[in-house]
Amino acid sequence: MAYVQNIVRCSMKALTRNTTIVSTKNLSNISHRQRYGKINSPSEQLLRTFSVGTVLQEDVRVTFLRANGEKIQAKGKVGDTLLDVVVNSHIDLDGFGACEGTLTCSTCHLIFKAEDFEKLPDKASDEELDMLDLAYELTDTSRLGCQITLTKDMDGLEVKVPATINDVRSA
Ligand code: FES
Repeated sequence: MAYVQNIVRCSMKALTRNTTIVSTKNLSNISHRQRYGKINSPSEQLLRTFSVGTVLQEDVRVTFLRANGEKIQAKGKVGDTLLDVVVNSHIDLDGFGACEGTLTCSTCHLIFKAEDFEKLPDKASDEELDMLDLAYELTDTSRLGCQITLTKDMDGLEVKVPATINDVRSA
């Protein structure tokens, strides 16, 4: 039993390092051997069982541009919010994300390039717009980082971090 658990653990570790999307779409036209190749060990067999048909999370590169011109490059995963990227990458943005994504602070205010803003998959909700109204340095392309979920298409995104933040909760 411990042996199997060890195999699963190793396989999952390998999967988390893998950033390839494995699609089942076109698998019906290829042979079993083409699909799976030669399987050498039980752990490889398990890894392939987990891999085939599973959409693995891809890295999405994001650059945070501070008001002083400093660029901070980070990576998130598809499905992460921009707040997640800041937190998981340990980016030191003073006061950023104070309410931890509960839409009650506006400290995660970020400014997008116009072309990126237009392509964002979701429009701001009324709650987000209410909170944005209270953010400093508001622009037409402002959003709250905790409300922006990364997609694969956002790879290479650059967002500006305002020089000042307003933690609405302390008003
Ligand atoms: Fe507070 Fe986004 S983290 S509103």
